[in-house]
Amino acid sequence: MKYKKLNNGVNMPMLGFGTFQIPASQTKACVLDALQAGYRLIDTASAYFNEKEIGEALKESGIPRKDFFITTKVWIQDAGYEKTLKAFQTSLNQLGLDYIDLYLIHQPYGDYYGSYKAMEELYRKGKIRAIGVCNFSPERFVDLYMNCTIKPMINQIEYHPFFQQKDAHHLFQQYHCQTQAWGPLNEGQRQIFNHPILKDIAKKHHKTIAQIVLRWQIEQDIIVIPKTVHQERMIENMNIWDFQLDQDDFQQIAKLNLGHSEIIDYQCYTTAKNLNKFKIHENSTKEIRI
Ligand SMILES: NC(=O)c1ccc[n+]([C@@H]2O[C@H](COP(=O)([O-])OP(=O)(O)OC[C@H]3O[C@@H](n4cnc5c(N)ncnc54)[C@H](OP(=O)(O)O)[C@@H]3O)[C@@H](O)[C@H]2O)c1
Repeated sequence: MKYKKLNNGVNMPMLGFGTFQIPASQTKACVLDALQAGYRLIDTASAYFNEKEIGEALKESGIPRKDFFITTKVWIQDAGYEKTLKAFQTSLNQLGLDYIDLYLIHQPYGDYYGSYKAMEELYRKGKIRAIGVCNFSPERFVDLYMNCTIKPMINQIEYHPFFQQKDAHHLFQQYHCQTQAWGPLNEGQRQIFNHPILKDIAKKHHKTIAQIVLRWQIEQDIIVIPKTVHQERMIENMNIWDFQLDQDDFQQIAKLNLGHSEIIDYQCYTTAKNLNKFKIHENSTKEIRI
């Protein structure tokens, strides 16, 4: 496994296991499989409703605490200083841990400045090893950066061959903020696993399309957290360290960029409206895309 040193010196695995849309009933078994396959970075969120089961898997695995890296996130309903302090404690309790490796603001909505202040305080107290954000556009990111004390270590954004946010990634690099890709496999959409260009590159390197796509992100210095419920795919997605893409591969994959997301549009006001309406404490519909 390759590790990345964040701007505060903390080492983070460059490849981890995503758990969005893994039902709580399957989560413990999936995380145990992922840990057995060698994953040590697990990405969750209070809004995924599976922190408790992840905690159970971690405990059952017997892996020493210092050897795994847990990310969780504060949801919009808990935005604000006081509410974030409380939400953080709830996440800790659910996960059965006494500190979190990486705590992120899940969405750029609500009183996220209040949340960030709470996160800075928890960071100073040693309850969080790294803090950051998700889905922050360049201007929101820079505004937060200019108005905070502890600079964000991560921005987790959608990134894959069909939505290559290179300018944003390069800007975050200038601010010493590590880009992490969510949806690194485009959630399987747009026939990514059958795409002819990706198929040719995979054939050339004797790899699968998933491995090509993940490797393409790693070589751009982007941390990836693919999700799968199948252990053979967990192993496949981990097996990306023994080859390298060439310039022609990069040129071919550059052609796939649509320049916009087909998953969620942060430019559109309805996204702000719908995500603000999604409540995690009332256990309302869990079908909305987050
Ligand atoms: N911060 C945010 O706002 C945000 C948003 C979305 C996601 N995330 C995080 O990012 C993680 C990853 O993103 P994601 O789950 O949305 O999508 P993803 O990892 O891009 O794609 C997951 C899909 O790809 C399939 N898949 C995985 N490996 C495969 C392989 N080797 N061959 C064929 N199919 C494969 C999975 O199917 P099977 O499971 O059936 O194998 C699943 O349908 C999430 O789990 C979550 O932790 C964060």
